Amino acid sequence: MMGQTPEQVIDSQRQDWNRVAGGWEKWDRFFDEQMAFLNHRLVADARLRSGMRVLDLGSGTGYPALLGAHTVGPSGSMTGLDLAEQMLAVARRKATALNLANTTFRTGDVSALPFEANSFDAVTSRFCLMFLPEVQKAATEIMRVLKPGGWVAAAVWSSPDKNPSIGLSMEAIKKVVELPQPDPTAPGIFRLAKPGDLASMLQQAGLVDVTDQEFLAEWSYASAEEYYTSLMEIAAPVQNLMAKLLDAQKQEVKRLILQASSQFRRSDRITFPLAVRMVAARKPL
Ligand SMILES: C[S@@+](CC[C@H](N)C(=O)[O-])C[C@H]1O[C@@H](n2cnc3c(N)ncnc32)[C@H](O)[C@@H]1O
Repeated sequence: MMGQTPEQVIDSQRQDWNRVAGGWEKWDRFFDEQMAFLNHRLVADARLRSGMRVLDLGSGTGYPALLGAHTVGPSGSMTGLDLAEQMLAVARRKATALNLANTTFRTGDVSALPFEANSFDAVTSRFCLMFLPEVQKAATEIMRVLKPGGWVAAAVWSSPDKNPSIGLSMEAIKKVVELPQPDPTAPGIFRLAKPGDLASMLQQAGLVDVTDQEFLAEWSYASAEEYYTSLMEIAAPVQNLMAKLLDAQKQEVKRLILQASSQFRRSDRITFPLAVRMVAARKPL
């Protein structure tokens, strides 16, 4: 874990995501359009239905919590949990604008869920679990708060070679400064990319009927510049690395990122493939 205690990881996660909350709000419509399919997939995998009580882990600015809240309707409820108050402030504004009165966003740590056992009919999570210092602890917590028979559905990034829009920024930074060899078990974007990693943790926590599938899709930007700007404004892990560079090094990284991303030009847009690992499991009856 690069020498960091779990508490230090949690603290830096909180700071990192609070710092980029403004960027997430600015790019909200764009990412909502580009990634909506994942929310629908999570709602399907978690078997959400009208009237259910649902928990979304690491909701950030409200994904997939807002779609989940809409799906369970006024007779159900959605609780979105996240470390970062600023991200949740955006999610709350969106819930209000959508008239989702069944939705509550609260701060908390996924590895120590502030809920009674057997509280939720289903649990969802998009792009959060790989940032936890102790994923197994979170798996045990998910098992505890789910009602018997309830489903959890989670999305995490698959490998960097299949996600060039993230991988190429890391490669560009590596060309400019030496980065320490990443510890594959340390929290980070690709920590749960390997098939079976998250699935086996859920299984170890006692969940059953575990599925682990890679979902292939793509996302598309109007230009390489647009891609670069959004990356710098929302990707907290990339921002962290960039903050360590001198101005001239930042300019060189930008040049390399623009150059590498232009390989993905298709007609008049930059279109990247993406691969997401979708894992679902059920608490036994
Ligand atoms: C990449 S964002 C994803 C947000 C949202 N689910 C989405 O897909 O748009 C990751 C989120 O996980 C949250 N997070 C990271 N570690 C966490 C933890 N231990 N407990 C709760 N939330 C955490 C961060 O604060 C951040 O909002």
